[in-house]
Amino acid sequence: MTELTITGYGDDLTVNGIRIGDLTPDDHKNIEKKLGGRNYAPLDDVVVSAVKDSSTLICRKPDPDNVKAYIEEEIIDGLCCYSAVNQGQLNQKILDAVVHHLTVDKLPTVPRSIRHKYMAAFLMATTSLTGMDRVVPKVAGVEAPELMFKIARRWGYTVKNIPQNEALIIGAKGNFHGRSMTAVSLSDDPDAKSGFGPFVPGIELVPFNDIEALAAIFAEKGDRIAAFLAEPIQGEAGVIVPKDDYWPQVAKLCKEHNILLAMDEVQTGFGRTGANFAHQLYGVKPDLMGCGKAAGGGILPVSFVAGRDDVIGVLTPGSEGSTFGGYPLASVVATYAVKVLVEDKLAERARIRGEQLLQHFEELQSEFPDKIREVRAKGLLTAFEMHDEPQLDGHKVSVELLKRGIYAKETHHSTVRIAPALTIEAWQIDDIAEAIHQTVKEL
Ligand SMILES: Cc1ncc(COP(=O)(O)O)c(C=O)c1O
Repeated sequence: MTELTITGYGDDLTVNGIRIGDLTPDDHKNIEKKLGGRNYAPLDDVVVSAVKDSSTLICRKPDPDNVKAYIEEEIIDGLCCYSAVNQGQLNQKILDAVVHHLTVDKLPTVPRSIRHKYMAAFLMATTSLTGMDRVVPKVAGVEAPELMFKIARRWGYTVKNIPQNEALIIGAKGNFHGRSMTAVSLSDDPDAKSGFGPFVPGIELVPFNDIEALAAIFAEKGDRIAAFLAEPIQGEAGVIVPKDDYWPQVAKLCKEHNILLAMDEVQTGFGRTGANFAHQLYGVKPDLMGCGKAAGGGILPVSFVAGRDDVIGVLTPGSEGSTFGGYPLASVVATYAVKVLVEDKLAERARIRGEQLLQHFEELQSEFPDKIREVRAKGLLTAFEMHDEPQLDGHKVSVELLKRGIYAKETHHSTVRIAPALTIEAWQIDDIAEAIHQTVKEL
């Protein structure tokens, strides 16, 4: 190891004599390119340095008059960390709970092999919120679908009596469940898969929102199928909202074939779509559901799998675990993330602000029908899709929006998703819409 000194806080945080507050956006980019994994391509010329309030980020941009300096600007956060910050940045109730927990209660970290007193709160809050019998805490979002996959297989062998090692899990084309080997094996995105094989076997995909395709594979291979694992609304695919009767029909088919319905609510959960969980919009109840992102209140990574007693009941000591899943601090944060969701009626706020944004999108589409192909929204999970033409470029839209003080990000070449914090104010929705309007007008 070369000599290493680390001192200071905030802008004064200094590593080997390099003070963070002295770095320009270009310096940050160069350090990340040199020392990081190069698995992201963030927007150029902008570095977030702090938050001002629940939906406002303070960003550093290059100083046009001095290459060695930067200026600071406020931008409205139209993405809220892919729905991890539904409760708004630094939500006061969650923040107070964290500070109290660390400075007064003082129990940051113990493992699951010894009980801690906050696990009870976490389990009571999450089972009550989800209406499920049992909850298993995890950490990253991807661990929720990963664990649902494992539970479904074990349920398939021990309860459904599928012959050993022959269980199938059915997924939906265009899905996104994260980056683990299982999630990537479920994916049909060549960028996510290329060079990472061999993949987890026992997976088949059907088109999303196509009940006939699901019925056909259930009819053909139902005896070996343990679960249909899918997002209720596909987020990363560009906010793909299924037909109203899709999920009720899926639930009925699953029951008929004794196949588990496992829903990945990592992005759609915690109020995002105008209900606490998106499946509630369709009047169905999954056997297993995975949550993440906003389960950590925008403060910590927290995820969990919730489900039926007899399904999660297939887990036994030693068959599953996680050092940080439900550790004391995460348990407190998740309990408060639930409290804020319920007390501050975030789902209802998402529904109201989502309708406001959708109305703007519809006006945009009727003004620019040659540019906007489709607009989609459930609550504050929204997107507009442009026609497939080179100049209608989602990345360019993101860059232009940033110049107008809005952070949003394309999901595909021609689709831009807007999913701000559920605490966003009406005027901020209008500002986002106005910036989109100006940007699309100039394309
Ligand atoms: C539906 C869904 N599942 C799982 C994940 C993975 O979550 P994480 O990136 O926290 O592992 C995501 C992330 O976008 C997601 O949208």
